[in-house]
Amino acid sequence: MVSNQQALRAATTEKLPAFEQLFEQEHLLTERILDAATAIVDQLRGLPDGKTIPSDLYSAMAVLIYLNENFADQTHLAAEEAAIPIAVARGMDPHSAAWVFADHDQGRAYAKAADVAWRRINAGDETDLPHAIDDFARCTEGLVKMFRYHAEREDHRLFPEMARHLSEEDDDLIMHIISQIGPKDVSPYISLVSSMERSVGIEPPS
Ligand SMILES: [Fe+2]
Ligand SMILES: [Fe+2]
Repeated sequence: MVSNQQALRAATTEKLPAFEQLFEQEHLLTERILDAATAIVDQLRGLPDGKTIPSDLYSAMAVLIYLNENFADQTHLAAEEAAIPIAVARGMDPHSAAWVFADHDQGRAYAKAADVAWRRINAGDETDLPHAIDDFARCTEGLVKMFRYHAEREDHRLFPEMARHLSEEDDDLIMHIISQIGPKDVSPYISLVSSMERSVGIEPPS
């Protein structure tokens, strides 16, 4: 898959570092996750009785909770946070990347709040259930809006700025480090994302 950003820079014969290709590939999968999360929010808000969650929707919510914790946080955000200090060590202004860490904290806070709502949904408390569903939808909506803006800003501003300070050897070093944080590519998560998409009525891309 080639993003607009990759195509644009390829057209100017600028070599895209491997770390940037990996992060942009992860962002493409992130976009699919955020689209499915948006469908989850819409369907939760459209529940006829406000509290009975259909099994497909429930499955999608469970996968989203898993991906928030394992793909977003422990893989993608952790890898970016390991890569940025290497660019700083090579001369990038640390203040120019401060917003990345703040956004990650914001995203983790939304994900944590959605996880609390998920536990309440599963607690068997009939009185609390509609309130927990409402909170799940609101926190997920916050997460979606934040990360859409965030990923685009990284693609267009952060990664090219990092690349300006990094040699090919630095790029190799970053790939070496981040390959020990998560999978080398997003393939282990693709089928899971596809299943979440199908659960909310989105046809996965071929
Ligand atoms: Fe990020
Ligand atoms: Fe990112």
